[in-house]
Amino acid sequence: MENKTKDAGTAKIEIDGKTYDMPVLSGTHGPNVVDVRKFYAQSGQFTFDPGFTSTASCESQITFINGEEGVLLHRGYPIGQLAAQATFPEVCYLILNGELPSKSELSTFNDEIKQHTLLHTQLDRFFDGFRRDSHPMAMLTGTVGAMASFYPGAMDSEDPEERRLASIRLIAKMPTLCARILKYNLGQKFVDPRNDLSYAENFLNMCFSVTAEDYKVDPKIAKAMDRFFILHADHEQNASTSTVRLAGSSGAHPFAAVAAGVACLWGPSHGGANEACLNMLHEIGTVDRIPEFIEKAKDKSDPFRLMGFGHRVYKNYDPRATVMRESAHEVLDLLGLKDQPILKVAMELERIALEDEYFAEKKLYPNVDFYSGIILDAIGFPKQMFTVLFSLARTVGWIAQLNEMLVDPTQRIGRPRQIYTGAAMRDYVPMDQR
Ligand code: CMC
Repeated sequence: MENKTKDAGTAKIEIDGKTYDMPVLSGTHGPNVVDVRKFYAQSGQFTFDPGFTSTASCESQITFINGEEGVLLHRGYPIGQLAAQATFPEVCYLILNGELPSKSELSTFNDEIKQHTLLHTQLDRFFDGFRRDSHPMAMLTGTVGAMASFYPGAMDSEDPEERRLASIRLIAKMPTLCARILKYNLGQKFVDPRNDLSYAENFLNMCFSVTAEDYKVDPKIAKAMDRFFILHADHEQNASTSTVRLAGSSGAHPFAAVAAGVACLWGPSHGGANEACLNMLHEIGTVDRIPEFIEKAKDKSDPFRLMGFGHRVYKNYDPRATVMRESAHEVLDLLGLKDQPILKVAMELERIALEDEYFAEKKLYPNVDFYSGIILDAIGFPKQMFTVLFSLARTVGWIAQLNEMLVDPTQRIGRPRQIYTGAAMRDYVPMDQR
């Protein structure tokens, strides 16, 4: 990657009467950064930013978010335009390569993905080791990591062809793996990929076909699935992507680094929020109970939070939530479920929360997970699969960000420091004197 930051002046940090000059850098969009890389060497002091609220951890040219304005761009293209006009494989190509593909480039890319959708049959035997009722995210964390053992060549991160192949393999095999996880939970036979179907259609077919009956993929449902994938494809330096970068910064196998990302995504503060949000909507159940839950969310002595609300970066409506909301209405309409109480609860909850002073003051808006569970539930996915579907879609972002890091000349192993507040140095006390 060619570093493109520009010189934007100097910041002065004064400590105990001594001034340290730190370069200020600018990018294409977004706030400038104070480059503190030499701060410790010069001052003997660290900067402190647990949770990285003020820290840019890398330079990246893939995705940009303006949280105040609710803007999300992939390689410069607004997410709303991509969701309305592109297909998921097209967005994958864009995220990986930096430009939208021509017709023939997209066709070659799609063909190559299709050549890598099969899993090694040995990997199927891995499933026998899991309990039937294992959480799908536990199985995904294990099996993505296990896939590293089949592709030892991918350890050679210096080789551009190995990096490219690892990306293609991951994007191609994740749907097959995720569908197998669903089938394993259900106790049904695995369904193999079909090359005559699109990426989303093939995934739906592997999930919902059974030996006794083919699944007829409704093109509109396939479109909704494809849009769900687009909306989750990348999101700059979120927790799981930063985890993938950190794991990969030691030179770890890319499949293992992605497995680390899957593990991080699992939590309810991140990708697990879609499952938690649908659970919450069911728990609320009826519109008349909403005020009670709003009060719980505002009560500081109650750990309850409105799931699918709030975001570290967006202090405005998450632009993905706008598309997801429309999609939820379309899918429920299509499936004749538009009178489902859950949709009414979601819409009313959103309306009441947006009018509430607490949520307005803290700038808490619906995020991508607020409506996504309603769509996935209507399509027929069990709740526990929701974060697996998020992982499938985010795989392209993880691998693109990892590959970008690997060719960044400024890249070094990620190694944060700390402020130590434990016991001061003391002498060992022999057992009989304690
Ligand atoms: N319900 C009620 N209060 C909330 C919520 C919520 N969903 N989210 C944040 N707050 C309050 C929080 O209590 C805090 O109040 P105070 O300043 O009085 O202490 C304030 O808003 C700021 O919250 P924070 O936890 O300091 O913010 P954060 O940036 O560390 O956390 C978040 C962001 C997404 C983890 C959080 O908003 C949250 O837990 N939301 C619910 C879970 C969720 O929907 N996660 C999905 C995120 S989007 C997809 C993804 O990343 O995977």
